[in-house]
Parts: sequence; structure tokens; C-alpha cells
Amino acid sequence: MSRILLGVTGGIAAYKAADLASRLVKDGFGVDVVMTKSACAFIAPLTFQTIVRGPVYTDTFAPVSDYSVEHISLAKRADLVLVAPATANVIGKLANGIADDLLTTVLMAAWRKPCVICPAMNTAMYENPMVQENLRKLRERGYAVIEPEAGRLACGDEGLGRLADTGIIAAFAKKLTAQS
Ligand SMILES: Cc1cc2nc3c(=O)[nH]c(=O)nc-3n(C[C@H](O)[C@H](O)[C@H](O)COP(=O)(O)O)c2cc1C
Repeated sequence: MSRILLGVTGGIAAYKAADLASRLVKDGFGVDVVMTKSACAFIAPLTFQTIVRGPVYTDTFAPVSDYSVEHISLAKRADLVLVAPATANVIGKLANGIADDLLTTVLMAAWRKPCVICPAMNTAMYENPMVQENLRKLRERGYAVIEPEAGRLACGDEGLGRLADTGIIAAFAKKLTAQS
């Protein structure tokens, strides 16, 4: 069974990551969920815990029961890393080598693993040259980026920035793990 590390960040599309986690479980993946603090403001860890039938990781410094160094063991056991939704903030941190919470620390340790970034944000944020520059940097470093879709955004604006369809993300994960 392949293991996917699903990173969930603090955007309005965080609730869609629950559907993605559910699809991945149905597809037979083991799923470890790492949420940023902001993601927990949008959706409760309990939702993911129930879907993946396992603990959800949110804190670099949480006491551990098995004495493993969590951010390293999570990175080691992942066959694939998915960040969905990926905020402008996490994209920026990853592209610039910042590891100041559990998710970005795991991402730093998992750089040899295939990693898929699924941006989701307001159109103006997505079109910001800084965000585009960070995405370009990540692509150049071998990260796959699943482009967001155009449509009506939660803030009422119309344009690019909606999280890619979770079925498309799950199918991409299947394809990548079948190759590895
Ligand atoms: C209601 C609301 C919706 C937000 N939606 C998004 C979003 O879709 N994408 C994004 O990049 N940031 C969004 N943000 C901003 C992030 O939550 C903020 O940048 C936060 O620091 C991200 O933290 P994280 O990257 O550690 O999860 C939103 C903020 C609020 C209050």
C-alpha cells in the first residue's frame, strides 16, 4: 500500500481536502494528514482523523508516544506528498526554504519524494508575481503543480484560483504512485 502525506493549509478550500482524503482512502492509499494551524481554523482535525482512521499531525513540538522524530518519520514513510490546498504563504515558504511549522518542516525533509502542490487562492493573490515566481521556482526544483481552476471564488470574485477538482488531484496521485 502506498502512503500519501496530505498537507492541508489555511485556505477556504481546506474543506475540499476532506473529500480528497476520502477519495485517496477509497483508492487504497494510507494517508497521513498534516495540517497548518490556519487550516485548523477552517476545518477540524477530527474530520480528517475520522476519514483516514489515524492521527492528524499539527504540531512540531507535540509530545510523541513512540519517540520518533515526527517530521522526519512522516517524510520518510511518504511515497508521495500532496499539498492541497496550498496557500500563497506555504508556497512562498517552501520555495524559499522556510520551515517554521510542522508542515513546512516535513516538506523540507521530504524533498526527495515526489511532491504535488495544488494552489488555491483569490485571483489577485494567484496572479501576484511573487506567487508566480515561487511556483516557477518549485517547478524548476521538480515539484508538480496542479493549476487551480477558473470560476466563482468564495470571496465573490470570478477568476483563476479555485482548487483543482479533487478527482483530478486523486487521479494524478494514482498515476504518480503507479510509476514509482
Ligand atoms: C476567510 C479566509 C480565507 C482565506 N483563504 C485563503 C486562500 O484560499 N488561499 C490563501 O493562500 N490564503 C487564504 N487566506 C489567508 C491565509 O489563511 C493566511 O495567509 C494564513 O497565514 C495561511 O497560513 P498557512 O499557509 O500556514 O496555512 C484566507 C484567510 C481567511 C481569513
